[in-house]
Amino acid sequence: MEKNVLVIGGAGYIGSHVVFELIDQGWRVTILDNLSSGLRQNLHPQARFVEGDLLDRALLQELLREGYQSVVYLAAKKAAGESMVKPELYCQQNLGGGQVLLEEMAQSPSKNLIFSSTAAVYGNPQYLPLDEGHPTNPMNYYGYTKLSFEQNLAWFAQLKGLRFVVLRYFNAAGYDLRGRITGLEQNPANLIPLVMEALLGERDELRVFGQDYNTKDGTGERDYIHVTDLARAHRLAAGHLNQGGENLTVNLGTGAAHTVLEIIQEAEQISGKKVPYKVVGRREGDPCSVLADYALAQEKLGWVPKFSALEPILSSTWKAYLANQAQS
Ligand SMILES: NC(=O)c1ccc[n+]([C@@H]2O[C@H](COP(=O)([O-])OP(=O)(O)OC[C@H]3O[C@@H](n4cnc5c(N)ncnc54)[C@H](O)[C@@H]3O)[C@@H](O)[C@H]2O)c1
Repeated sequence: MEKNVLVIGGAGYIGSHVVFELIDQGWRVTILDNLSSGLRQNLHPQARFVEGDLLDRALLQELLREGYQSVVYLAAKKAAGESMVKPELYCQQNLGGGQVLLEEMAQSPSKNLIFSSTAAVYGNPQYLPLDEGHPTNPMNYYGYTKLSFEQNLAWFAQLKGLRFVVLRYFNAAGYDLRGRITGLEQNPANLIPLVMEALLGERDELRVFGQDYNTKDGTGERDYIHVTDLARAHRLAAGHLNQGGENLTVNLGTGAAHTVLEIIQEAEQISGKKVPYKVVGRREGDPCSVLADYALAQEKLGWVPKFSALEPILSSTWKAYLANQAQS
């Protein structure tokens, strides 16, 4: 049977890497994307591209009727800070979009869903590393929308025969190791893109929030996962569902955390430039450490991170930023 996938949000940062991975491995891919934050330049030339909105029910219905072995659902608003000031936007896009998708999948022959969730569903860690059994208690509305969709999906699986793999990403980072994806993530709020902008002189000074945490150098630490590792997990999840595998919710992280200063130092080494930065007070609500236990993804999908050391993450990001600067 031909392996075909619908990737909703396939022009975005993570989605474009997922599309390249699937096509590299012989899958046929259709992308649905409204290009609100995705880029035409990141579309794979062999993918079929449908420009449109997830909330366009008629369009979605038409696509799902074609019968996909898996639907990968990445499209979402994703800025945690923004979600606290514009909850109505996140409600409409993430909850509204998710609801249309569940309703339409329930009526269609496309029954297998791979969902982009997040470590934000856990909230402040009660213990580390975070495993999937850790209590969920999102600290922002964005995380709530992701958890809420996860729960709705579980009900639709039970009541309407949908099947799923929920992937809870930790901090997505890095770019395609072969340099094929050069369009940069739009409006990133994460540390690594800000470090890149500081290196390129596009931002005056990086603010480091707090140096009094209980970590090796006092700065906060996070679990960074290379986007190519994330992409592979989607392909494995699609294979798992194809083979009739059980519904799953799994963490995608490395189990190791890197501090802000470690990122800065490695970035300086790779670029040969200095990152101008200043330490300021802690930011409210920021946990000291976040890191994943990924044993379940390893056991159920055979997934392990391969490219998520700091060097490949930062060197691939630096190359993408340099290529982008050269183009502009
Ligand atoms: N980047 C991270 O670190 C991270 C971490 C955890 C989870 N996630 C989740 O992963 C997913 C992808 O994140 P990303 O970093 O690639 O973001 P992104 O903004 O680069 O990609 C989202 C894509 O979806 C498209 N899109 C948005 N709304 C749409 C709609 N209504 N209809 C059609 N297309 C629409 C955008 O144009 C874009 O191409 C999101 O669901 C995000 O919440 C991201």
